[in-house]
Amino acid sequence: MSIRQTSWLRWPTMADPLSIAELLKQARYLLTEADTDTSQLDAELLLAHLLQKSRTWLHTWPDKLVEEEIIADFNPLLQRRQRGEPIAYLLGKQSFWTLELKVTADTLIPRPDTELLVEEALSTIPTEQTWEIADLGTGSGAIALAIASERPAARIIATDQSAAALAIAEENASRYPFDNITFKQGSWFEPIRQQLFDLILSNPPYIAAGDAHLGQGDIRFEPDSALSSGSSGLDDLQQIIHNAIPQLKSGGRLIVEHGYDQGNAVRSLFEQHHYIEISTKRDLSGQERVSYGVQP
Ligand SMILES: C[S@@+](CC[C@H](N)C(=O)[O-])C[C@H]1O[C@@H](n2cnc3c(N)ncnc32)[C@H](O)[C@@H]1O
Repeated sequence: MSIRQTSWLRWPTMADPLSIAELLKQARYLLTEADTDTSQLDAELLLAHLLQKSRTWLHTWPDKLVEEEIIADFNPLLQRRQRGEPIAYLLGKQSFWTLELKVTADTLIPRPDTELLVEEALSTIPTEQTWEIADLGTGSGAIALAIASERPAARIIATDQSAAALAIAEENASRYPFDNITFKQGSWFEPIRQQLFDLILSNPPYIAAGDAHLGQGDIRFEPDSALSSGSSGLDDLQQIIHNAIPQLKSGGRLIVEHGYDQGNAVRSLFEQHHYIEISTKRDLSGQERVSYGVQP
């Protein structure tokens, strides 16, 4: 794939400045060449971000001239997008649930699939009672913050092994008025050893090391520590399902996200550890995505 030079974007002059429509047209041309099938949307999102306006505003004012400084900032963003960098990292943010979360190269970009885990969790958490909840491998804080936003009475501990990811999660939490999340760094249950939970949630790494997907699309730019988990992809799920048993109250529930083809394997892990009420939910594409079991 050849990458077109973004210097093709002309610099505006007093005599011949570029309008929003012209700039977007050129940007779309460059991004289409880079094989992104979302070139129009990407170009609009990046320009709207730099102008601090909405995409609707861009469509309303196509003839407005764009300042030289904005074009100077637009060019490197287009170059990074041409190389395949995820749009969420270029914008520095991603929507999840009802929230807007800061994301960086230290955090996984939260996926819509993970909202299924949030829905499943909310269907069990009472609105009035104070449940003790853990979100293991919180990344940007997506799951913990979504639960906190819907269940202010819950007490949530969010953990991650990555100090850099945890710092972003804490920054995200500080942007919202939630006072019911505590953040702790460490591997899986290590920072919360002495505690018992009504509910444990996790979207752990679950891609098999060596899986071709790790070299494709957005995933190439995300931290490997958030993605891959041993030769089968099940190492972390196995650890979490095994170690959650003594940390759950009687009747407590563990809900995990997993790969679309890991439903059978994950249910077997729950069975081996004598969980009851084991079940799996399918995502919007009909794929097995979230499984749970209850501590007997
Ligand atoms: C798939 S990402 C999920 C991030 C976030 N929960 C989400 O759904 O967007 C997995 C997260 O687990 C963290 N992680 C990986 N190994 C870990 C471990 N041994 N202990 C704790 N967290 C770990 C990674 O740093 C990453 O943030």
